[in-house]
Amino acid sequence: MRVSVIGTGYLGAVHAAGMAELGFDVVGVDVDPAKVEMLSNARMPFYEPDFEPLLETHVGGRLHFTTDITQAASADVHFVCVGTPQQHGSLAADLTYVDAAVDALMPHLADGSVVVGKSTVPVGTAQVLADRIRAEAPRGANVALAWNPEFLREGLAVKDTLHPDRLVFGVDAGEGGHAEEVLRRVYARTIAEDQTPVVVTDLPTAELVKVAANSFLATKISFINAMAEICEAAGADVTKLADAIGHDERIGRKFLNAGVGFGGGCLPKDIRAFSARAAELGASQSVAFLIEMDAINLRRREHVVNLVRTHLGHLPGRKVAVLGAAFKPDSDDVRDSPALSIAGALHLAGVQVAIYDPQAMPNAAKIFPTLGYADSVDEAVAGAEAVLHLTEWPEFRELDPAVMATQVARPLVIDGRNCLDAQAYRAAGWTYVGLGRP
Ligand code: UGA
Repeated sequence: MRVSVIGTGYLGAVHAAGMAELGFDVVGVDVDPAKVEMLSNARMPFYEPDFEPLLETHVGGRLHFTTDITQAASADVHFVCVGTPQQHGSLAADLTYVDAAVDALMPHLADGSVVVGKSTVPVGTAQVLADRIRAEAPRGANVALAWNPEFLREGLAVKDTLHPDRLVFGVDAGEGGHAEEVLRRVYARTIAEDQTPVVVTDLPTAELVKVAANSFLATKISFINAMAEICEAAGADVTKLADAIGHDERIGRKFLNAGVGFGGGCLPKDIRAFSARAAELGASQSVAFLIEMDAINLRRREHVVNLVRTHLGHLPGRKVAVLGAAFKPDSDDVRDSPALSIAGALHLAGVQVAIYDPQAMPNAAKIFPTLGYADSVDEAVAGAEAVLHLTEWPEFRELDPAVMATQVARPLVIDGRNCLDAQAYRAAGWTYVGLGRP
């Protein structure tokens, strides 16, 4: 079976390599020649652990990348993996790239092939595309459309692609079962090896599964951050609270880490796009809580800026070290990153920020060129009046507070991820400030 993957961003590139690992001949197609050039040389255009070895194994063998969509023509399955960013001036998702991918594919669709959407789209999109493909496929070719949402986490993308928690196959009721059969063949090894549960649904349910999952995750994080706000008002400790409620299996401890909140290219834009789509469907009340989740999340960023102001007073001219720029560790992705947005707000308030991140500096400098960037933790913290820990890279957790205390102008640390050793910092003479902790 031959597979094409349209769009080779964080999702598509890893999916293409994953498909090659599963044994298929794969062509990854992207409109960006620079990205294609890197991938063709088995180099990753973004940082993702475990991804490069997969490229090294398969590029030049059964995996190749191109800007030429005609090379997708012989594929039996086409995965659409392009981005659906937030529209400018609206909460809704921008479907330009999905539409462009389907437009580009359309003349090359062969009879019996299947187009499989993986992008996160507003519910209803898949049916529109299915109808379009049925009407416009060349020479009356019978081409099915399915929706197979992706649940991979950046930083764990290879593992999540090859060993997903579950597979969701959204299929068009009138299509006769061909798409499900093809998807079962594509994922046969994963299903057999890991006993991966497969949930077969209609198209709108598959689209909704994805946004419902991300909405739930965002809600869990904002819930604990709301508890952090209460803990701050009451003098309680949100980390202990999370441990205690997390022991209840119905609640669970995962995704209950209070701090500067969620960011990235998915959770923030997905809950906004979901709200916008629900409003179009006349169901805005049902997801009104998501607006509040978004607001709680963004408040945590402001809270950190306010904490800096509380401790340092007048901000202009102050020196602050920011450890972290990526939205989470093991990623160089700075889209909607809490770390970068806090650094930016401090910079705009006149603070001299010095940011250090092990992987995300080039991406951060691209979108925020005016911020101060340091080449190392040592350089960032030298002479700082506050150190902000905003992305929980393991190497930040391992810093020696006693050594760092000799480098800073003032030993004040704000732990935006609540994962530094507070006792060790205090013992080394630091003022340690966690979020939602006394
Ligand atoms: C998220 C979902 O977790 C994936 O299942 C989904 O496939 C993906 O979006 C997507 O839609 O493509 P990802 O954006 O990689 O994955 O990041 P997460 O691991 O979900 O973290 C999101 C943000 O929440 C990060 O900024 C992280 O630091 C923050 N977070 C996470 C917390 O603040 N507290 C927590 O307890 C957990």
